[in-house]
Amino acid sequence: MMHFDSSIRLFDQARRLMPGGVSSPVRAISPYPFYTARAIGPYLWDCDGNRFIDYCLAYGPMILGHRHPAIKEAVSDQMDRGWLYGTPSELEVRLAERVSSLYPSMERLRFVSSGTEATMAAIRVARGSTGRDMIIKIEGGFHGAHDSVLVKAGSGATTLGIPDSLGVPADATKNTIQVPYNDPAALEEVLERFSGRIACLIMEPVLGNIGPILPDKGYLQTARRLTEKNDVLLIFDEVITGFRLSLGGAQELFGIKPDLTTLGK
Ligand SMILES: Cc1ncc(COP(=O)(O)O)c(C=O)c1O
Repeated sequence: MMHFDSSIRLFDQARRLMPGGVSSPVRAISPYPFYTARAIGPYLWDCDGNRFIDYCLAYGPMILGHRHPAIKEAVSDQMDRGWLYGTPSELEVRLAERVSSLYPSMERLRFVSSGTEATMAAIRVARGSTGRDMIIKIEGGFHGAHDSVLVKAGSGATTLGIPDSLGVPADATKNTIQVPYNDPAALEEVLERFSGRIACLIMEPVLGNIGPILPDKGYLQTARRLTEKNDVLLIFDEVITGFRLSLGGAQELFGIKPDLTTLGK
């Protein structure tokens, strides 16, 4: 019989300090989340001593499991040289080389702190370089917590974007059009209807956040062909698929060259 007394106590305290008692909606497990005390390899232990197999792995970053010795050593070595400089350092050049070699579609890359910032910046680059405001996203796709992608499910091309959250102004989502995944006809229709006004299509190549749902055969190729034909930039949001579906992400696995790529987690 598992006990959760310490987790219940912590959640009680947390609820008084943080909205919902958590720092992210995905951690809001009803009736209370368990509070992790330590982890190794594939296991988590909570503060009541219960052990769990961790299928979540912090939503992606713990790709090698917890406390992998090679990572621990690398982090510990770096700690001896300091951990935040606020200046460029050689490490970022080496990392940029490594990422570029795995993602040949990237001519340049920029490091940011979260997937949200990555998709926000990619959309801004697309809008800035095309001089257009409208964007297309896939219904059910998630690209982080910034205004222009927080669009209600079901608000498709006919309604234009309706905010998915209080605090997101209608003006921030009115330029976001949604099309269903695996529906090339809907994409083609929207690209034609708003011809010359669309900066980009942003998509998770494998729809992770309501799935995973795999692309139908030829769907990604068609999305690439249609965006190219309509002079619209294709952003692959590989925050989840990157380094996991294959080392070079979905773009390597399916052989597609997007114009912009976002990675994270
Ligand atoms: C596909 C995708 N893009 C972007 C994000 C946002 O990333 P972050 O949580 O690091 O802001 C997520 C988060 O789950 C995601 O799944």
